[in-house]
Amino acid sequence: MKKKLLITGASGKVGWSVAEKLRESGHYEIVATDLEEDRQRGIVPLDMTDPEAVREAARGIDTILHIGWAEDREDFLGRVLPVNVTGAYHIYEAARECGVGRVVFASSNHATGFYSSEERVEPEDPYRPDSFYGLSKCYIELLGRLYADKHGISSINIRIGNYPGNRPPASKRAMKIWISERDLASLFACCVEADSSIDFLSLYGTSANTENYYDIGYLKELIGYEPQDDAAALREEALRLYGGLKDDELPLQGGGMTRQ
Ligand SMILES: NC(=O)c1ccc[n+]([C@@H]2O[C@H](COP(=O)([O-])OP(=O)(O)OC[C@H]3O[C@@H](n4cnc5c(N)ncnc54)[C@H](O)[C@@H]3O)[C@@H](O)[C@H]2O)c1
Repeated sequence: MKKKLLITGASGKVGWSVAEKLRESGHYEIVATDLEEDRQRGIVPLDMTDPEAVREAARGIDTILHIGWAEDREDFLGRVLPVNVTGAYHIYEAARECGVGRVVFASSNHATGFYSSEERVEPEDPYRPDSFYGLSKCYIELLGRLYADKHGISSINIRIGNYPGNRPPASKRAMKIWISERDLASLFACCVEADSSIDFLSLYGTSANTENYYDIGYLKELIGYEPQDDAAALREEALRLYGGLKDDELPLQGGGMTRQ
């Protein structure tokens, strides 16, 4: 039987690319959701801050891909806590109540943005968030840790690097953390399919970039992720398209977010 996936934030850049590609694969039954309905794209409404609606949506689901996120990253009290952190809590609670086996969360590289660009950070290294945005990602990753330990829900956090939609990387920093559309969808699929013995995992989600900040080679053996693309191969196209690469390469991995 096909696995049934619930995707939040499916109208967004990441959510739509993942939903479309996984649907095309034919391997899954997909319930794509976002705040607003979009009939053309088969997206049904779901607000992650509505616990009853989230619980209803989670019934009969095997894996939740939690990608929904309210913008305005640094409005900690107005958006980050009441929408994004609370919403993630509702997702995990619904997963517990409805017996969902796994939650795959769209985390971010900004969970460790205060590491130097010279350092090779591993997912197990201590958190060093560079913003309230990054901090909320750390918190939600730990929410996953709690639900894994206490309730046996497998939790996988993909610390996405830079996904500008189906476009080449636009900045010097993006060259080091970019992920292509097909690699993004393949990484989410690998997380869905990863062995059920994986109770908790955080990982960096990038393509096989020549200049990558992170060593992601081990993911092939661990979850079968074999990225096909490399930002360096798109440098010329990016230069043509954008007229140059934005110079955001700061001494810290989080780039501009460390200064906002
Ligand atoms: N795009 C990137 O480069 C990147 C990098 C790192 C992490 N991420 C993470 O990936 C996720 C998606 O990013 P994106 O770039 O696609 O953002 P996006 O803004 O394009 O998409 C987010 C979607 O979430 C939806 N949303 C907002 N509030 C909601 C709510 N209350 N309930 C349900 N859905 C709601 C929005 O309507 C939107 O469609 C986010 O968690 C983001 O932090 C993205």
